Amino acid sequence: MTKKKFIVTPWEVRGEVDYDKLIKQFGTKPIDEGLLNRIKKHAGELHPMLRRGIFYSHRSLNWILSEYEKGNTFYLYTGRGPSGDTHLGHLMPWIFTKYLQDKFKVKLIFQLTDDEKFMIKEDMSLDDAVNYGYENALDVIALGFKPDNTEIFLDTEYIKSLYKLAIKVAKRVTFSTAKAVFGFKNSSNIGIIFFTAVQSAPAFLESERQGKQVPCLIPCAIDQDPHFRVTRDVAPHLGYPKPALIHCKFFPSLLGKEKMSASIPGSSIYTTDSPSEARKKIFNAFTGGKATVEEQKKLGGTPEICSVYQYLSYIFEEDDEKLKEQYAQCKRGELLCGEHKQYLADKVERFLIEHQKKREKAKDRIEEFIIRD
Ligand code: TYM
Repeated sequence: MTKKKFIVTPWEVRGEVDYDKLIKQFGTKPIDEGLLNRIKKHAGELHPMLRRGIFYSHRSLNWILSEYEKGNTFYLYTGRGPSGDTHLGHLMPWIFTKYLQDKFKVKLIFQLTDDEKFMIKEDMSLDDAVNYGYENALDVIALGFKPDNTEIFLDTEYIKSLYKLAIKVAKRVTFSTAKAVFGFKNSSNIGIIFFTAVQSAPAFLESERQGKQVPCLIPCAIDQDPHFRVTRDVAPHLGYPKPALIHCKFFPSLLGKEKMSASIPGSSIYTTDSPSEARKKIFNAFTGGKATVEEQKKLGGTPEICSVYQYLSYIFEEDDEKLKEQYAQCKRGELLCGEHKQYLADKVERFLIEHQKKREKAKDRIEEFIIRD
């Protein structure tokens, strides 16, 4: 059997990702039963994304919990590279971050890397990156974060506070390390080579502000891990604690197998899509169904490869029992793809209508969240 190739970097995810292999490749740890029990002890309940193994990998999470138990509370740090509208995949780590914030009652720092997207995307103007930053911030706010424990900034508007930290990191990272971690070439621009230092800075920001070692926990999809490997390597040299991480898998493409991608139309649903656009995309989705209804009824479907089933299990079906039932019915050929698509489309439509209302309201509240210096 030929081995399937895949690639995961902060700027490129290609191929069918083998998540277990990625744990080995990146040197992270799987989230095991013991860790789930520890989280449950504090959070009261496990988020479906934990119960279903969607948040599946970590670094130093046991340490974060031990510090928390000693009364040394962590803060959360996550972000977005504003290269366009927000898709449902981006929401995953933010929905999970909200769960952590509510359960552990901790602060969130949210970085919008307008600088990164300007430097990495040839056709992106700086104005566009800034504008998308503000647009993306509306999606964060719409998820229900509160201004008293959430700070959001764009790098270009908060750089004074980040810069001293960023250059301390940059001085410790050689070009050969940056090349090995991110695959830079001679043709890479020098801005993007430096950029990892800017993404590292917020992991030390609270320690810097408070003048003591404040633990930091970063929820993100596993594509961002390479940045924080660098951050963790330099942390002890700068006298800061290494940030901990909790990683999720990628929300799948509606067209099957690979991570959803902005460059493939129809592969993702955006928070700004109209409900009818979203429905259309769902009705064109790749499923694990058979070629004909007769065959499907006789042989059953394959939910393991079905994007409709995955959409439900990643975000849209909170009820474990219902999900199990749909899996079993699909396998037995009792649930047809058309019906299942309808079921998902109704859920996505309800979500979008609600989210878009909250997004509209967030426009009046954005200044309560944004910090500048
Ligand atoms: P960006 O904008 O590529 O992605 C934002 C967040 O969404 C995650 N993500 C996904 N999660 C699930 N399914 C997907 N299909 C999917 N695609 C992307 C990313 O892992 C990320 O958590 N450089 C960063 C911005 C950033 C950041 C951070 C992210 C700055 N500081 C700290 C995480 C933590 C970026 O371009 O993310």
